[in-house]
Amino acid sequence: MPSLTLDTPELAQQYDQVSDLQYEHGQFLLAGLQLKPGNALLDIGCGTGRLAELAARHHVGQSGRVVGVDPLPLRIELAAARTLPQLSFAVARGEDLSAFADGSFDAVLLNSVYHWLPDKAAVLNEAFRVLRPGGRIAISSASRERPHDIQRILAKVLADAGLGRGQVGGSTPYRVTHAELATQLETAGFLVDEIRLRRFADHFPNVEAVLAFSNASSFGNFLGDYLPDVRARLQAALRGTLEALATPSGVLLHRNLHFALARKPA
Ligand SMILES: C[S@@+](CC[C@H](N)C(=O)[O-])C[C@H]1O[C@@H](n2cnc3c(N)ncnc32)[C@H](O)[C@@H]1O
Repeated sequence: MPSLTLDTPELAQQYDQVSDLQYEHGQFLLAGLQLKPGNALLDIGCGTGRLAELAARHHVGQSGRVVGVDPLPLRIELAAARTLPQLSFAVARGEDLSAFADGSFDAVLLNSVYHWLPDKAAVLNEAFRVLRPGGRIAISSASRERPHDIQRILAKVLADAGLGRGQVGGSTPYRVTHAELATQLETAGFLVDEIRLRRFADHFPNVEAVLAFSNASSFGNFLGDYLPDVRARLQAALRGTLEALATPSGVLLHRNLHFALARKPA
């Protein structure tokens, strides 16, 4: 299970700087929510708040409201530096949104968070509760049937080391299939409008940029299941594999993500 106690000020700061990929694909989710001026949006697992700020600036108008929650205090500290009247942040896990009343949001967003959640039912039930009837939810999640390139590479590194029959070392550990995502949403009471698999080609300038992205995105959990010396050896093997893939223009890696849009019945 991912730990929520391994984050550091450096990782939080780094995430703010290297999360362009999440920020860019998160905009598909925002567009899908079709927010209107005056709407209230809850961003669950908002990280350092980049997407929440964008939503507050451009999607809900000055009469609207965007609230971002995340269990990592260091990330919420950075998010809270984004000062707009219609934007606020709080430390909270998606499994416990008791700070918010039933039906108090028009929309809920989970961008690159779902694959970190061991108890998806608890989070979906809370999201359903805080949404008004007819309110919408948008989720992006790593895909179990189509792993990211980095996950395949990690799986090989672990297998070569005689490890890794289980989850892949804290890299998007709870990813889902298309069918699982649909069933989980429906079980929580949502009507599913759309689930699409999108494939992204990411160009990293060098191997260090791949590792920085993976470390910061995993808030200290990247290969975190292993003891420090084993982890160091795995990191070295991963670096070697990535260096073999690098070209003078950098490292090209693909990610595959499910994008789901669903709504609470009116
Ligand atoms: C890759 S970051 C995505 C951050 C942000 N949504 C974005 O698009 O940049 C994953 C986030 O999920 C958060 N997270 C992990 N477990 C969570 C939970 N149980 N409830 C809510 N958020 C969680 C982490 O704290 C982290 O900030």
